[in-house]
Formats: sequence, C-alpha cells, structure tokens
Amino acid sequence: MNAADLAERFQKEFHTQPKVFRAPGRVNLIGEHTDYNDGFVMPSAIGFFTRVAVSARSDRKLVLRSAEYSEVFEFDLTNLPAVRLNAWCDYVIGVATILQQAGCAVTGANLLLHGEVPIGAGLSSSAAIEVATALALLCLTEVTMPLQTVARLCQKAENEFVGARVGIMDQFVSCLGRAEHALLLDCRSLDFDLVPLPENLKLVICNTMVKHQLSGGEYNRRREECEQGVQILSGFYPGIKALRDVSPSQLLAQAKALPPIIYKRCLHVVEENRRVLDAAQCFRSSDLQGVGRLMRESHRSLRDLYEVSCRELDIMVEVAEELPGYYGGRMTGGGFGGSTVNLVESPQAESFAREITERYRWQTGISSEVYICSPANGAGAEPNTPAAAPSFQTIDSSSKSI
Ligand code: GLA
Repeated sequence: MNAADLAERFQKEFHTQPKVFRAPGRVNLIGEHTDYNDGFVMPSAIGFFTRVAVSARSDRKLVLRSAEYSEVFEFDLTNLPAVRLNAWCDYVIGVATILQQAGCAVTGANLLLHGEVPIGAGLSSSAAIEVATALALLCLTEVTMPLQTVARLCQKAENEFVGARVGIMDQFVSCLGRAEHALLLDCRSLDFDLVPLPENLKLVICNTMVKHQLSGGEYNRRREECEQGVQILSGFYPGIKALRDVSPSQLLAQAKALPPIIYKRCLHVVEENRRVLDAAQCFRSSDLQGVGRLMRESHRSLRDLYEVSCRELDIMVEVAEELPGYYGGRMTGGGFGGSTVNLVESPQAESFAREITERYRWQTGISSEVYICSPANGAGAEPNTPAAAPSFQTIDSSSKSI
C-alpha cells in the first residue's frame, strides 16, 4: 500500500485529509550488539517502510487504526496506559508518552498505520513504527527537533515502554539512512559518516522465517553480561565506561579475571568494533572481498562467542558459500532467528536468491523469503501527499568523520 492508497483509506475512515510520513526498516551490514556498548555499527536503511497517516483532532484523544489489523484503539492523552498492552499500539503509545515527557505538547490525533517491514525478520519493524509515529505526532505540534533527537526519543520509548533495552542503531538509521550508502555510526558520540556502496552491489536479505523477539529475556541478558564485564574490567582499568573503551590486549590480559561466559561476550564486542572500522575502510578502498571476510568473521563470533545465532541462521550463511557473485554474509540484527544479509553482485542477485532459497529449503524444509535490496533514504514526509511543514531537520554529515 503506497502513500496515496493509505491517504485514501484514511479519508474513508476518518473523513478528512491526512499528512503521511514514512520511516524505513534497516539491515545491519556489520557491528552487531555493539551499539549498547557505546561502539560502532554500519547499517543501511532499506526500501521497506512503515507509513503513518495523521490528522489533528480537536479533543485530547489518540485514535489509532492499522491497515493490517482490525482493532481500533482509543486513548486519552492525559491518561495514557502506563504499561504495555502487548499489541501493535504499544509503539505508538510509547512514542506519545516519551514525547510528552520530553516537553512536546502532543495534540489529539487520528492515526492510520501501515507497515511493510517484515515483522520478526530482524529488519527493525519496530523502529520504523516508532520513527514514523514520532514524525506524524510532531508535525501537529510547534516543536522542531533534529532527527538525532527523534531517534533518541524513539529508542527511549522502546526501552522504557516496550521494555526492550535496545541500543540506538535502528532508530538512528531509520531517521538518517541515505540511499546508496551505509551509515557508519559512533554510538557514543552519534557522529556518523555515510559510506558509499558500489553501484553494482545488492544487499540480499534472506529471512529464515524463524521469528525473533527482542523483548524476550536473551537480548537484555546479553546487555547485563556486557555490563558485568565492564564492572570487572574497570577494577583493572579505571576510566572504562563501556566495552568500547577496552582494547583487545587489555581484555586478553584480564581474561582470567572474568567468568568464561563474560569473557566470550566481551571478546565478541571488542573485536566486532574493530571489524566495523575495518569494513568501512574496505568499502572505501573498494575491497569487497575484505568486507565479505569481515562479515563471515562477524557471523562466527556471534555464533560462538556471543551465542545469538540459531541453526537456521547458520545454515542460511553456510549455503550461501560459493554461490556466484557472493562476497560474504552474516546474521543481521538481534539474532535468535530473523535474517542474514549477503553482499552480492547485482547481475547475480536474482540467481543467488533462487539458489539460496532452494538450498535452505532442502536443508531445513522451510520456505524462506529473500529480499533484494539497495540502501534507501531515511524517514520523512511522503512526497505527493499534502505538504507537511517539516518538524525535523537533517544534519549535514560531511562535517563529521569517524
Ligand atoms: C536489535 C537492537 C539494536 C542492536 C541489535 C544488535 O536490532 O534494536 O539496538 O542492539 O539488535 O546489534
């Protein structure tokens, strides 16, 4: 459903013209489970969007409809639920709550949502809902804020309302991703560089169809294990605030002081940070084989050290080997299911998709979905729908460098 279709449906349901905003999902090329350790990540936004059509109401109600689900939710802005309801509306309530807490005078609104980011595929459908909702609600207020701040507030909504202690990566790239580029982000300073990707390269995303769930305990447990590592290591190296501050040799020197599981988790993060910076360098020098090698290493580390892969993800990575046009691949996103991301030369992308689907089905009996993607632009107002005064800004990336 495109923006015009959504606007038409909105008109039928709410009898008024909406403004429409959209925010993309993302695929992370490298840098997994590093964002909440103040480290580096390198995702791209992808051309699957969540769209939110919005119009103002004269009362203090939020009336929420979805193009996919039939239930209609109605809330009073002065009395929003304090805990999640375990429904799609949680992301909207979470964002409205956090915007209000941040001092934005959120007004009553009708919202109609439509999501095309596959759910549970590790492609950040939740960040896409949050960011599109934030832009929609902000456009009805007088508030303007940089997209970086929008990303932070959406992350806060997911942390505090939905209960997943996610890092900043997904919301940030959903806001600030750029077509034809990956976004190299320093998750501590939020400085970023846009890294151009070669024109003849596709990001082939293979969905294992095993659904992952971030609000489940494993993700939060990994975060706690990292925090435990920092606590022990800071006894040896005062001044360490996050695993970002630990070098591989410092970690190795204190290996015996850490419980074995904590050591493995820390080793993944410390080495993964290095791989992200190396991969950006490889892209800049057109060394795609180099990026591919780093992606394979990242997958092995997520499988063996961080232990967030699963049988289906490992199979999906293994069966890609030696397919024509393939440079490398790995699981992407939080893990425990979801998708792999593969760098494939454009002319071979279709045959890669067909062949990997066959090989995966043969080994697992599961019919996967494969999406052949190119990096997309981040969130904004939909062109060709009634013009929205921008309530957010993009920031020139050229002044920052990592
Ligand atoms: C999820 C989270 C991100 C990040 C990844 C793992 O996608 O939302 O913040 O932690 O997992 O890299």
